[in-house]
Amino acid sequence: MKIHINHARAIGQRDIKIYGHFIEHFHRQVYGGLYDPASPLADESGLRRDVMEAMRKIKVPVLRWPGGCFVSSYHWQDSVGSARVPTFDKAWRVEDPNSFGTDEYIDLCRKLGCEPYICTNAGTGTAEEMSDWVEYCNLEHEGRYARRRIENGHPAPHAVKYWSIGNENYGFWEIGAKSAEEWGRLVKEAAKMMKHVDPSIELSAAALSDVNWNVNLLEHCGEFLDWISIHEYWDMTTQVNDLADYEQCMAYTGAVDHAVREVRGLLAAMRLDRKIKIAFDEWNLRSWHHPNVHTIKQGIDKADYVKPRDKNDENWQYTMADAVFSACFLNAMNRHCDIVGMANFAPILNTRGCIYTHAQGIVLRSTYHVFDLYVNYLGDVVLDSWGEDMPGMSVLDKKGQEAAIDTLDVLATRWTDRPGWALAIVNKDPEKAHDVSICMPEADGDAVMYSIRGLGKDSYNDIDRNEVFIERNTIGRYRDGMTLSIAPHSVNVLHAGVTELI
Ligand code: AHR
Repeated sequence: MKIHINHARAIGQRDIKIYGHFIEHFHRQVYGGLYDPASPLADESGLRRDVMEAMRKIKVPVLRWPGGCFVSSYHWQDSVGSARVPTFDKAWRVEDPNSFGTDEYIDLCRKLGCEPYICTNAGTGTAEEMSDWVEYCNLEHEGRYARRRIENGHPAPHAVKYWSIGNENYGFWEIGAKSAEEWGRLVKEAAKMMKHVDPSIELSAAALSDVNWNVNLLEHCGEFLDWISIHEYWDMTTQVNDLADYEQCMAYTGAVDHAVREVRGLLAAMRLDRKIKIAFDEWNLRSWHHPNVHTIKQGIDKADYVKPRDKNDENWQYTMADAVFSACFLNAMNRHCDIVGMANFAPILNTRGCIYTHAQGIVLRSTYHVFDLYVNYLGDVVLDSWGEDMPGMSVLDKKGQEAAIDTLDVLATRWTDRPGWALAIVNKDPEKAHDVSICMPEADGDAVMYSIRGLGKDSYNDIDRNEVFIERNTIGRYRDGMTLSIAPHSVNVLHAGVTELI
């Protein structure tokens, strides 16, 4: 295959927030994960130092919190101040100690140097409660909530810019689900009150690639929104933890950006595409495993609905399939950089996350290295490129349907503030290497390849196992038209003329 890169034509500059993350009060993400005061690895605030260090290395730009489904019965006032009592989390049917709340979350974001992104309770919550939360975080000192923040030891406002109204309130599984009409009205009143508290905030609201729901939402309150939130998980393992194998996962790469294209079309049709950006604020190849909760009939014994969640933690499940799929997703979000301004990997920690914690330390799963490669080795300007003689392959998806997909996925970038070019080259082929000729006459300098490929397509990392990591290979001087052999099941970034890494 030949890849032609048009150095002079930039598609746009990607927003670093497309490499964002999400953490929810679910299983071991917060409690016993990131926040573990009893751990010798925790800092004075109870936050795991090793986890924060790993998060800093991939420069987490924005971190969505506290949920997900959790937030739709969560009342923020229960977890601020000194007099906190545990509450029963009706979404995940466990007790929440409320020891990790808004102030601890902001402390975490400041230590990471990332933007907070708070998702509000639009399930059992009210529009007023959402705006009170903005008061607590963003008002200097006026009113009871800013005063409470100051009493709680935080004189300066938390200055939270990004807010999302609700989570998946379109779904039967969500506490306080709404009809499209109800949703449009609630979001409008909530947005009005939140922006009356702080007009400088940026607001999103839960949407999905469903015309009726989105038209209702945008007709009611397009004028108030700056973002629209969409979610997607491809390999559904919620009720049964039967994971798709490598080839089946590759079938999902065929239409990884269908939701973005659908929402883009609707925003354009409603003449809102210059005002509202897409926040893909929950995505992962695999859905989380939590049987007997998102069901009409609820599990009776904890063994039916809490214990099975431990399965998410088994590291053998996170292979090169997750890495290759995630790279294809991030390539697509880069290509849609004109309208996708944020994407949040769900979650960052434990469950299906890219970092796994255990009592003595952490494991960096295959997807972690993809974020390291994309955040630290790719440029921020997306260049126009096209493939000549793109090889294709046919795979069977999880339903046994045949899917014809491109074998390679290439993204060309350069930097706004330094010399050099960086090409992401993904080979989805489970067995074969593929030759790629790079056609970019403007490029020069040294050529270096950074690759993630594992020992095989099912390679994974674990406490005593490190099979998936970034390898560096010097190639020599870049030559226009040079041909490179791209390894099977691999994610690569080719540098040409890059003199300094970030
Ligand atoms: O499975 C986890 C859940 O997935 C999140 O809480 C929710 O937002 C999505 O449905």
